[in-house]
Amino acid sequence: MEFLQEIQRRRTFGIISHPDAGKTTLTEKLLLYGGAIQEAGAVKSNKIKKGATSDFMEIERQRGISVATSVLAFNYQNKKINILDTPGHKDFAEDTFRTLTAVDSVIVVIDVAKGVEEQTEKLVEVCRMRKIPMIVFINKLDREGKDAFDLLDEVEQKLGLQVTPLSFPIGMGYNFKGIYNLWSQNIQIFEPTDKQKIAQTIAYESLEDEGLRQAIGEESLTELKESLELVKGVYPNFDQNQYLEGNLQPVFFGSALNNFGVQELLDCFIEIAPPPLPKSTDKRIIKPDEAAFSGFVFKIHANMDPKHRDRLAFIKIVSGIFKRNTPYLHVRQKKKLKFSSPNAFFAEKKQVVDESFPGDIVGLHDTGNFKIGDTLTSGEEIQYKGIPSFSPEHFRFINNADPMKAKQLNKGIDQLMDEGVAQLFVLNLNGRKVIGTVGALQFEVIQYRLLHEYGAKCTYENLNVHKACWIMCENPEHPEFEDFKRVKQKFLAQDKQGQLVFLADSAFSLQMTQQKYSAISFHFTSEMN
Ligand code: G4P
Repeated sequence: MEFLQEIQRRRTFGIISHPDAGKTTLTEKLLLYGGAIQEAGAVKSNKIKKGATSDFMEIERQRGISVATSVLAFNYQNKKINILDTPGHKDFAEDTFRTLTAVDSVIVVIDVAKGVEEQTEKLVEVCRMRKIPMIVFINKLDREGKDAFDLLDEVEQKLGLQVTPLSFPIGMGYNFKGIYNLWSQNIQIFEPTDKQKIAQTIAYESLEDEGLRQAIGEESLTELKESLELVKGVYPNFDQNQYLEGNLQPVFFGSALNNFGVQELLDCFIEIAPPPLPKSTDKRIIKPDEAAFSGFVFKIHANMDPKHRDRLAFIKIVSGIFKRNTPYLHVRQKKKLKFSSPNAFFAEKKQVVDESFPGDIVGLHDTGNFKIGDTLTSGEEIQYKGIPSFSPEHFRFINNADPMKAKQLNKGIDQLMDEGVAQLFVLNLNGRKVIGTVGALQFEVIQYRLLHEYGAKCTYENLNVHKACWIMCENPEHPEFEDFKRVKQKFLAQDKQGQLVFLADSAFSLQMTQQKYSAISFHFTSEMN
């Protein structure tokens, strides 16, 4: 197949949701429809079960599973589909944010009864800011939930989206009878069948079909007709360009568990979702069809086997063809590396491949060369943008508890930070190390992994920090900047890139400092431009 065709047939996306909305179930059903698995139940959930926060074996088990489910690829109607896994647990939100830099579109799953939840809001906000095309899937229609129009309102208001339904439910919960598919202009009647197998649906072409009247009854039919009138009157027509530009989000209804509405979603998705898109670097925009290979690291999985310091760096290919055993430039380290066994992902297996195309993800075995955000190219010195660090929510001093193992501790901290588990800040005043995380769970993970993978012991000490702000001043010699650095010396630190960070101890002090030093800009992500 030609290079251009290979690019055009790829669809790389992520599914995002609040935990328990049905992301894992939907992923599994997409694989089922894609023919990648024969029976549902093959893909394990990688979510951290509630109440398992201190169960380290559980964390280890989950890490094992999440390597397997990091990328799930399958072919469907001649399209190559790559689903990138995004952890739903809020303590791993940063992992999800980084994965969102490697997707070309997303599907947002919402529970019909719970509506828009906290984690959905945060993740959708990131997608909205990045103008990532989104399709919304409202799940669990087999259960009693909110009224469809109320839900559409809620999605618009809480998520700041402009929606247009491409399917509409007929009834709900006990009364769920099916959906009207506005995209393909037909009606699917819900028949609860074997949940593990592809659903059999009865399709009607027209609202006037006598069979339909009999199937759902006069009352439901009238209600459906009224709803469709309202949909037509209230929501804009679907416009693919608007969707691709991130200005319009189509909505589907269904039940992933019952395989209902999943195929409709998939059929529409492969037609409207974008193939691999161009991406910005510090120098220029790179197009997927450029001949020269380039890609970036968005995820690192480390030390699954503590006996081998083995890491798998996940690279999203942006342009050109990635070839096995070919030397590529590691731009940050300015050195050439080649890879004898790059892994590609298919369904829930990985296998060594000779070639991969834009949109694909390859897993490269790494002995410590990569960190998140690194760029790999055929030779051009460019750096992909767009993997910012967000201000952590929790901060603690990390102390060495075994003086004989200082080297191991430092190495462990260094590698875990490269992997993106947490962020490290070193205080300017005394060189003490501060770990910042998104969730409290990470502190336990770090302590456990330092001990088991590096043989190092650490303790933590509380530190009162409200937020980390990255500091910028146009003129480094500005008297205000000098004053700021002197007065706030105690609160200043450097991140791993050597950027200056202000660790504000309260919202109030942050606000006062911002007001006092107007020549300085305060950023809540490490990406300042
Ligand atoms: P997540 O990855 O977003 O966290 O959600 P997951 O797919 O694990 O689904 C969460 C729960 O919701 C699961 O039940 C799952 O079976 C259920 N579910 C998913 N889709 C539907 C649906 O369309 N209808 C109904 N009624 N339920 C659905 P669980 O009891 O927590 O887990 P399990 O024991 O069934 O795996």
